[in-house]
Amino acid sequence: MKRVPNLTGMVSSTVRIEPADASSQFRSGVHALDDYFARHAVKNDRDGISTAYVLRRSEADSPDWPPVLGYYTLSMAELASPLAAAVLGRKLPRYPLPVALIGRLAVDGRVQGHRVGEKLLLDALGRAFDAATRLGCLGVIVDAKDERAGRFYAKYDFVEFADEALWPRRMFLAMSTIREAFENAETPDARSGLTAS
Ligand SMILES: CC(C)(COP(=O)(O)OP(=O)(O)OC[C@H]1O[C@@H](n2cnc3c(N)ncnc32)[C@H](O)[C@@H]1OP(=O)(O)O)[C@@H](O)C(=O)NCCC(=O)NCCS
Repeated sequence: MKRVPNLTGMVSSTVRIEPADASSQFRSGVHALDDYFARHAVKNDRDGISTAYVLRRSEADSPDWPPVLGYYTLSMAELASPLAAAVLGRKLPRYPLPVALIGRLAVDGRVQGHRVGEKLLLDALGRAFDAATRLGCLGVIVDAKDERAGRFYAKYDFVEFADEALWPRRMFLAMSTIREAFENAETPDARSGLTAS
């Protein structure tokens, strides 16, 4: 990650999901992600299981764009100590370790390729970074649905675990990497013009 926003004073561009978002005909092209958004995202958010954040079309966007450009979900999770130790290359306590999970992340098919995915991912990392200032959180994990999704996350330095028994592709980004990237941000609060490595 070469450039990311400095989170100090950051105003996130996403908001918590509302029922109207869920019925807005969001279509990423991946049935499981679209079905979750339409049927389960609001309830799981309100039940405290998995918070869902949406990026809505703004006035600056084309009116042809869908009302919800993309969404992601965040929850707490745990990571087996040997997996974390292997990726981080250091000794860790032997019990399961706390991480944040981006359970789902999807962009509407009509706006894919317009850096919405990047905006969502950095927004999610920002929220995880923020949470990690208050509670223990060793990093962020994602379950990439397929190889293409894995390549997207790899652009932002997520690494795949060597353990092939993990399904789907579980990937990890250390909080130390996130902290370093965010603290070394070139332009404070510059959420546009972000660049992947
Ligand atoms: C994968 C997804 C989130 C990417 O969002 P997007 O808005 O289309 O991507 P962006 O425009 O923000 O691209 C940011 C960077 O990632 C790259 N990228 C995007 N999708 C990629 C893919 N599938 N494979 C490799 N790189 C990808 C872009 O080329 C760009 O790189 P650059 O900085 O070198 O130009 C989106 O295509 C999507 O929702 N797909 C369907 C659902 C899905 O697979 N979700 C993943 C979670 S399982």
